[in-house]
Amino acid sequence: MRIGIMTSGGDCPGLNAVIRGAVLNGIKSYDHEFVGFRDGWRGVKEGDFFELPRTAVRGISKQGGTILGTSRTNAFEGENGGPQNIAAVLKDNGVDALIAIGGEGTLAGAQRLCEAGLPIVGVPKTIDNDLDATDYTFGFDTANQIAVEAIDRLRTTGDSHHRCMVAEVMGRHVGWIALHAGMASGAHAILIPEVSTTMEQICQWVNEAHDRGRAPLIVVAEGFVPEGMEEAFSVRGLDTFGRARLGGIGEMLAPLIEERTGIETRATVLGHIQRGGVPTAFDRVLATRLGMASVDSVVDGAWGTMVALHGTKINRVPMRAALNNLKRVPMERYNEAKILFG
Ligand code: F6P
Repeated sequence: MRIGIMTSGGDCPGLNAVIRGAVLNGIKSYDHEFVGFRDGWRGVKEGDFFELPRTAVRGISKQGGTILGTSRTNAFEGENGGPQNIAAVLKDNGVDALIAIGGEGTLAGAQRLCEAGLPIVGVPKTIDNDLDATDYTFGFDTANQIAVEAIDRLRTTGDSHHRCMVAEVMGRHVGWIALHAGMASGAHAILIPEVSTTMEQICQWVNEAHDRGRAPLIVVAEGFVPEGMEEAFSVRGLDTFGRARLGGIGEMLAPLIEERTGIETRATVLGHIQRGGVPTAFDRVLATRLGMASVDSVVDGAWGTMVALHGTKINRVPMRAALNNLKRVPMERYNEAKILFG
């Protein structure tokens, strides 16, 4: 078989380990051939790909980013989009099946194409860890590690200046990175989109930490908005592409905290640093196993499924199972962390 691989959506540490796992398992166990489509659905729609022999994946599992490139291009948009065009591209280039590595948007596109009869299997990917039907996504562990290292540094400068430090981490819909990075770094408050929290409560935690002689440390997910301030916080400006800007909550919170507590406060947005660089060992192993398992799914013709981590096992689930709901931080996990606040 000749199998195509593509990576789509925001990049994520571990993507190259998935590609390597798939290519090595495919070549060594089944004698398959591989091609890599460039820049997600764009390359698939335009038939822009290159061969992926064994040498192409040598040593790449420790590299960040994706050797295939990625984009947020939609599979259905434009004159090359949609199932008929994509099926023609695959057929014309002798590609028998496609492994789509991506998050919610990518898997939703892949799922629709499968319903139209295309031979696609999925590999779930996001640093945000918000995809359902899998315990963890690769990239999440690396993002946490990077966030914790940065927050530990913020703490020492906060201590020196007796300042309150606000660290904004990624997570537009969910607060998994904030929860884990905040717990690991000993934050005095963790603010996530799933849990509504007032400015009064936030300032109370800040004051409690300050009164004990600590430099208060707040970890906030980019999608968080303080309770009762939804309107004031809804406009965060537009980014350079004219899209609604998501981040910026840290910089909005800092002056409010300073004004209400009298404690000098600084904000730091960690941003895309969390998605860059070398994946952790955990993410490399998880991503490699998922890549290997995705080839087994292709061999079994399990179209419309994605590989998933359940406990320590890699299983197959219908792609739609990951798309029904976002995996939010459960209240019991937040309440557990909350014992440590203040
Ligand atoms: O979905 C992953 C994610 O990292 C989000 O946490 C973040 O809001 C978004 O991607 C940023 O996307 P982009 O790189 O397109 O600005």
